[in-house]
Amino acid sequence: MNYNKGTEDLKNWIVSEDSFNSNNLGKCEAIMCLGNGYMGVRSATEEKYLKEIRNHFVSGTFNKFDENEVTELPNIPDFTQLDINLNGERLDLEKGEIKNYSRDLNLKSGVITREFNWIFKGIEYHFISRRFVSLKDLNLMAIEVCITPLNAEATVSITSGINGQVSNSGAQHFHEGEKRIYNKKFIEMLSKTTNSKIDFVQMTTHKLSLNGDEIEIDPDLNMDRRKVNVIYKLDVKAGEEFKLEKISTVNTTRDLVHDGKELKDIRIYALNQLENFEKEGFETLLEKSKTEWNKKWAAMDIKIDSEVEFDQLAIRFAQYHLIVMTPAHDSRMGVGAKGLSGEGYKGHSFWDTELFIMPFFTYTMPEIARSLAKYRFETLGGARRKANDNGYMGAMFPWESAWKDDGEVTPVWGAVDIVTGKATKIWSGFIEQHITCDVAYALWQYYMVTKDEEFMENYGFEILFDTAIFWASRLEWNEEKKEYHINNVIGPDEYKEHVNNNAFTNYMAHWNLNLAIEYYSKIKSEKPELFNILNKKLELDSNLKVWKDKVVKIYLPEPRKEDSVIPQDDTYLSKDIIDLTKYKNQEHVGSLFKDYSLDQVNEIQVSKQADMMVLFYLLENRFSTDVKRANWNYYEPKTLHDSSLSLSTHCVLASDMNDKEMAYDLFRRASEIDLGPNMKTSDHGIHAASLGGIWQCIVNGFSGVRMLGGELRIDPKLPENWNEVIFPLNWHGVNLTIKVDKNLLTVVKNSDSDEKIKFTVYGTEYILDKKIEIKY
Ligand code: BGC
Repeated sequence: MNYNKGTEDLKNWIVSEDSFNSNNLGKCEAIMCLGNGYMGVRSATEEKYLKEIRNHFVSGTFNKFDENEVTELPNIPDFTQLDINLNGERLDLEKGEIKNYSRDLNLKSGVITREFNWIFKGIEYHFISRRFVSLKDLNLMAIEVCITPLNAEATVSITSGINGQVSNSGAQHFHEGEKRIYNKKFIEMLSKTTNSKIDFVQMTTHKLSLNGDEIEIDPDLNMDRRKVNVIYKLDVKAGEEFKLEKISTVNTTRDLVHDGKELKDIRIYALNQLENFEKEGFETLLEKSKTEWNKKWAAMDIKIDSEVEFDQLAIRFAQYHLIVMTPAHDSRMGVGAKGLSGEGYKGHSFWDTELFIMPFFTYTMPEIARSLAKYRFETLGGARRKANDNGYMGAMFPWESAWKDDGEVTPVWGAVDIVTGKATKIWSGFIEQHITCDVAYALWQYYMVTKDEEFMENYGFEILFDTAIFWASRLEWNEEKKEYHINNVIGPDEYKEHVNNNAFTNYMAHWNLNLAIEYYSKIKSEKPELFNILNKKLELDSNLKVWKDKVVKIYLPEPRKEDSVIPQDDTYLSKDIIDLTKYKNQEHVGSLFKDYSLDQVNEIQVSKQADMMVLFYLLENRFSTDVKRANWNYYEPKTLHDSSLSLSTHCVLASDMNDKEMAYDLFRRASEIDLGPNMKTSDHGIHAASLGGIWQCIVNGFSGVRMLGGELRIDPKLPENWNEVIFPLNWHGVNLTIKVDKNLLTVVKNSDSDEKIKFTVYGTEYILDKKIEIKY
């Protein structure tokens, strides 16, 4: 990989692959994934290879293969594969000689350019392709391929169309529908998901040119099982460039814009749409998409002046993917843990969204955060069902969430247990319950940062109250200790299953209940009409008594007297301590499982990821720096960072403790999870939460931005090798620009809003009128 390729205007905007290796296809397929939140296309090469994974997903189109499997995002028929034959030989970079290979993802414009010379049987061909998924026209993706035989005439043949011979690792999610080629030009494939019965209309068309002049070639037509293609063939003279433009669209009956329309209407709509796109052509369509990307970058770009150029690329890479993966157009859809870049985690949403991804949107593009918060409102039915099925009340959010009505979709069986040889049971869907307070926390954060009363009145307060109702019913009375416990859970650290009183879960449930009590009074006095509606619906009056009675009796593990360590749960501190050096220095995550089964890991003082640290991050003011440091010193050496969520939280905490070197080191490690030199980390897809975490490292960590009790705080702790960082921040609907220099903080208001922005810097309060400079 080459991360320094961009120069001048494109400096730190280009992620580049500079050599081809068919053993490492997964890396660029995932990190160069294209998308627009409506759909995501993994960047498999045009020509096919044995180890490739070619994926195309459309947000929200979940399907359940059969009763024994959970619902997942299906891999839809493919547009990207082209069979290219040059003088009768299939273009295949495993053969022949390759010269000047490069594949560049331009983060600024969302375009991939792939270029190389291929020499085979004495003929040298120049190949260059471009590919984008439009950020403007959500149904559209386009590919352009140019081939020039350089030193001899050659027959070039390209087979291209729609390939429905795809699956999700073998699971076939589609019934084959009609296929058709209109006027030898517009190719159509219909398919229907087997269970959710979503109809897909996929269309594609081609335009050809020779040396820049459009040409017509009468194609051969080919229709096979789940496959429809056209074949173009042309004798191309030495030095002539043969170009094929392929413009493709996806529409589904799940799309909002077609709500209520029949499949027949969608087919007509899709055909008209494609005809119009075809008239506009690749270049115009690309310009429109670029304009949309420019708007996004204007709203979110962070400028870093660092001694290490890579830092700038890393945040842009993260933000590029955050836009590509997020279905901002439709609040019935969430963000997958691998975005739309791979089959990993089946397209499901986790707490990753609320605690790692949403903050970026909340502080930068609040309308998108609103859509993500609304998604949880849409899923309330499933959350209530889950509570009820488990004998609780209120809303118990699914650990893994898919289509809004699906409820809990966590698979039950996972990786092999090295002791028994059987599949390990995944308990998260049953007992990883902290997701419910994570949802409440992100919602409250959104509310405090944006002051979006309308959202809260229509959706948010209902969630806050219903999550509190859940926690009140979830608490278990311990007669001996005369306190409420939360037993048999998994906390954020998934290497500890079936534990009692995970500190994170207990504290956050306590916080959730107190928040509901606070808003009960506020809404009753300030919004009586709304109060009456919610009171009727959720019986707030009688619940309030329960909340008040129980919340003061919840067991909150305190720091130990001797060393200020808070027990992560009731038994963690009494488990075996082993030498973890080998696993701390591992090349690939999860190496512990080569030696131990999950049951054995459960009995060792070893953590997968940040647990206590997430608590310190969210409830920052509850714990002193000394307590944070003591717990860091105890738990971090036992934490393997086997989840990609772990490093960014640790980075923010290290910043909070003013350990700048450690914080920067963790930031670098987090940045390199997908973008680094390791060619195997992203095979199943990019790490969505970690990418959100990179933004948090910079804004919440190094710049010290935090919403505390509804107030804005900015306590910068710039890494030593950074001179400056400038970033946008939206606070109470006002766009601010924050600039952090070594010793100077500048805050500028970018609008004429009269809102007085109040914030603190290292304990001193400031009021922003237009611009303020503060020495720190
Ligand atoms: C982590 C979870 C995370 C999930 C999806 C797991 O490996 O332990 O915290 O939510 O991956 O990213």
